[in-house]
Amino acid sequence: LPAVTKALAQWVFSHPYNTKRPEVTVVKYLQPFQLSPETLQEVSARLRKDLLRGLGKHSHHKAPVKMLPTFVRATPDGTEKGDFLALDLGGTNFRVLHVRVEEEAQKVLKMDSQICAIPQEMMLGTGEQLFDHIATCLGDFLESHNLKGQTLPLGFTFSFPCEQLEIDKSILIRWTKGFNCSGVEGKDVVQLLKEAIHRRGDYHIGSVAMVNDTVGTMMSCGYKDQSCEIGMIIGTGTNACYMEEIKNVKRIEGEDGRMCINTEWGGFGDDGCLDDILTEFDVEVDKTSINPGVHIFEKMISGMYLGEIVRLVLVKMTKDKLLFKGQISEALGTRGLFETKFISEIEDGLENAKKILTELGLDWSLVDASVVRLVCDTISSRSAYLCAAALATLVNRIRNNRKLGHLKTTVGVDGTVYRKHPTFSSKLQKAVRLLAPQCDITFLVSEDGSGKGAAMVTAVAQRPAHQSRLLEESDGEDNEEEEEEEGQ
Ligand code: GLC
Repeated sequence: LPAVTKALAQWVFSHPYNTKRPEVTVVKYLQPFQLSPETLQEVSARLRKDLLRGLGKHSHHKAPVKMLPTFVRATPDGTEKGDFLALDLGGTNFRVLHVRVEEEAQKVLKMDSQICAIPQEMMLGTGEQLFDHIATCLGDFLESHNLKGQTLPLGFTFSFPCEQLEIDKSILIRWTKGFNCSGVEGKDVVQLLKEAIHRRGDYHIGSVAMVNDTVGTMMSCGYKDQSCEIGMIIGTGTNACYMEEIKNVKRIEGEDGRMCINTEWGGFGDDGCLDDILTEFDVEVDKTSINPGVHIFEKMISGMYLGEIVRLVLVKMTKDKLLFKGQISEALGTRGLFETKFISEIEDGLENAKKILTELGLDWSLVDASVVRLVCDTISSRSAYLCAAALATLVNRIRNNRKLGHLKTTVGVDGTVYRKHPTFSSKLQKAVRLLAPQCDITFLVSEDGSGKGAAMVTAVAQRPAHQSRLLEESDGEDNEEEEEEEGQ
């Protein structure tokens, strides 16, 4: 267990419930969240297998980790330039941006940007409403920034799993996180955007590049550091992309070069392969989510779910009369009201913890506040360690692909959990060093990957490149084992 505070130790040893076996109580609730280094290695090994399934031509259609080709074949080389529009949908807000990439100054400038709220009803409404809203926000932005007469290329950061057929043809596989708009799954998102713009008829856009936020993050860091070949998000959702050898992407025609693969690692575990490490609280979070059974790994890690996991643990401990004199306040009893940002704040200091518990209407003691901190620490640490296990899989894979004894690489990272939590990034980095000892990783926090990075993808996409094509979906025998690389 993490270091137990003095107050907590007193509680453990003095609580009447515990007189016989004092250690049992805390352990009982928190131990299932503690993953040993061996378990993390095992998680990493399972993901390694799933990456291969996702890349395989015949195994892909059933693979929980989708390994989606992005048609991004190169990271920036510093020659990119021009003016771009960027749209960003999939995090906490919807944004429209005007971005300028200046070659001489090697700079990506955000000229202007605007946030448009997407009301909850719209996240669960019809696709047409959603895209009309997006087209309206874009129209208003162009109008107020005198850009309506221009036809600028547009990078669309759409942070959901999409089967990309070309850089500008992208079929939504399924909604994740808080979205569930009807009539969009299975459709080309670029087409839906163009149709909505056409319905208005008062402005035009140039060529479109579809971008996952992980890819934007990798590309925005890639402009600064050309060895950045991985993009990782730990925010509302979690995911990563990396540069894979095209010859290993069996669904893509061609042998030469590399392509960025959007792993969609949030779906890891959707086939039950992580069931042995799920706690009763993870099962509950999944069951009550809008997409049960989908994105199991993400639900153990990302900002959309961490607060709820903590809340469920606290509710259970309170029901068992171990916290808050057995009294659950209305706020603590309500799904979604214990926000993930509280975890960061509570871990940041005892005073914050007291303030938040008061705001949640709880009658707390000093000992309660310490226990709550321990619960937050345990659950956020598990999230950091699971991300580390997954990242270790990717860096080890890149190292093996290139047959290197030692790999030096850079990971571009973004997301509120990674950025805002006081110890998340250091725990993740420490654990990944343990799990991938032959890799030397630099972590770069991305500066607006979804905006500037999207512009960068759009710029790189305009460069002439070898054409690759997605091969027809093949329904061949599933037991075609994709080769396991040596030395993994
Ligand atoms: C979800 C989405 C994925 C995105 C991630 C981070 O996992 O499916 O596309 O990259 O969230 O925003």
